[in-house]
Order: sequence, then C-alpha cells, then structure tokens
Amino acid sequence: MRSIEDRLKILLSTIGNTRIKCMNVDGIDLCFKLEYDNPTGSHKDRTAVYMIKGLIERGKIKEGECVAELSSGNTAVSVAWASSFLGLKSLLLVKEYASNIKKNLVRLYGGELLIVKKDTSVKDAKNIAEERGCVFLNQDANEDNFLAHYETTGPEILNQVEEGFDFFIMGIGTGGTVTGAGTRIKEKLKNVKIAGVVPTGSALSEKRGGGFKPIEGLVSSKIPELFERHKNVVDFIVEVSLEEALKAIREIFRRFLILPGPSTGANFVAFQKLVRDGLIEKGQRVVTIAADQLIRYPELLKNVTNLL
Ligand SMILES: Cc1ncc(COP(=O)(O)O)c(C=O)c1O
Repeated sequence: MRSIEDRLKILLSTIGNTRIKCMNVDGIDLCFKLEYDNPTGSHKDRTAVYMIKGLIERGKIKEGECVAELSSGNTAVSVAWASSFLGLKSLLLVKEYASNIKKNLVRLYGGELLIVKKDTSVKDAKNIAEERGCVFLNQDANEDNFLAHYETTGPEILNQVEEGFDFFIMGIGTGGTVTGAGTRIKEKLKNVKIAGVVPTGSALSEKRGGGFKPIEGLVSSKIPELFERHKNVVDFIVEVSLEEALKAIREIFRRFLILPGPSTGANFVAFQKLVRDGLIEKGQRVVTIAADQLIRYPELLKNVTNLL
C-alpha cells in the first residue's frame, strides 16, 4: 500500500500541463488555456490538490481523516476526486443552484454531498465542517489556492507563450487564478496588464445589486479574502452579464472550435470590451482561460441554444 505522500506525488503529476489554443481575432492574437484538460475537467484540480498538499505537508491531516469545502461546483468535484485518491474522506457543501452534473460528479468521485442555500456563508460552512470533524479547506482565503496558480498555471502560460503577451484576462471567483497566475506573469513580463472579470451587479461591480444574475464559478455577493489580499496585481475589473457570457460561447465555438462554460464566455466578452475601449490594441497578444466546458452545465445548454 502506497503512503499518502507517495500518492500525493502521483496526484501532482496529473494536474496541469494543459494545452493552449491561440487564434487571431480581428488583428489580435487571443489564446485560451484549456483548463478543462485537467483530470476532472477544470482548473480547480490544481487548487484542490494544492490545498490538500498544504495540509499533508503541515501535518494537519492523515489518511482516513476528512476535508470539507464550500463550493459552487468545480472545486467540490476536484476536492472529492483528490481526496478519494489520497484515502481521505470529503464533505462537500454545494450551493443549491450548482448544476446537477457537478452534484452527481461529487458523489461519483466518492465525496459526501451536502446541498446548502445560496446565501450560506464561509463561517456557516466552517462550523458545519468542524461539527462533522472535517478540516475546512476554505478556498476563499487559502494561500495554497493562490500558490497553485503561482507555481503551476503562471509558469505554464509563460512557457507556452514564450514570445510574450500584453494582457491576461480571467474571471474572479476566489481570485486564486487571476492573482496567482497574474503575479507570476507580472514578475516576468513587467508590462502585462491583468484584467479580472466579474458578473454585473456582483460584490465587485461598480453598481451592486439590481437584477444580479450569478455566473457559475464567479464572485457573487461577497468579496473573497484571497482576492482582497492580492488584488493589487489586477489592473482592471470588467463587468459582464450572464446573458452576454452565454451569447459569447457561440462566438468562441465559431472561432476556436471549442465549447467552453459560461465563465469562459465572460472572459471572451471582457476581451471584446477591452478592445472596444481601446485598452487592447491590434497587433497585441492576449491570454485567457477556458476554465471548463459547456457540457458541465446541461441546464444551460437550452439557454445557449435559444440565444443562437
Ligand atoms: C467555471 C469557473 N470559472 C472561473 C472560476 C474562478 O476561478 P478562481 O476561483 O480561481 O477565481 C471558477 C471558480 O470556481 C469556476 O468554477
């Protein structure tokens, strides 16, 4: 029987090294890093493995013990997957609006699923986790989430786009990807601008509230601690509505022949808005992320089709 440390090494070798797909969009090179290449289908595999790695390395968890997380879906799936492989139990508090496929994947990977209300706070989740004897991972504040992208996503992008680039765009959920990869990118390419993408009406919008419609995976009513800590690396916040994000999926498909999820649609709309506002110019190169795929959102397939 392999030790948990040995299994962790194997797990680490399975995350990342995802492909990157670049196309010319009206005179600008736009590259999508295809994070759905990760084992469970999103960039959150990196975060989950790093957060659990941190606990193992600090002696905070042993085989057979339990980790817990509050997540709108992708992180929950990744934590269930990583825990199973490592011989840990996992308790996933998934918001009621998350797609059924994500909820089923959590179960399939061997996690315990607890559906919670959409306004469940991190504090409530931590209490529930601790009552159940689980270590709460807390992706919204956990530095290992930042580190996952600082040590893996950022360097991969820099290697894959070795000729350099001008802009990095990514949706803000916890902010782990945009700040972690963004910090690493700016260390090497000093002039790169970083844009974070948020749903219109969310906590990071200029105008909060109104007809706020969440985009799954992106920030909703509360600003995550992790983002607060590292937000200085972000130069622009771009607001995108759910409808704009869904409409953009079709255009991404037409241009890139990929069918990503709604947060990737939002990244593309942010790209278009930055071009429209003259912040991205012809001849420049831009990198963004395709966090997951549309098939992960069967409930949305109809909405996207209706928008065609
Ligand atoms: C589909 C999707 N896109 C974007 C994000 C945002 O990533 P991060 O939490 O690193 O900011 C998430 C986070 O869960 C997500 O699930």
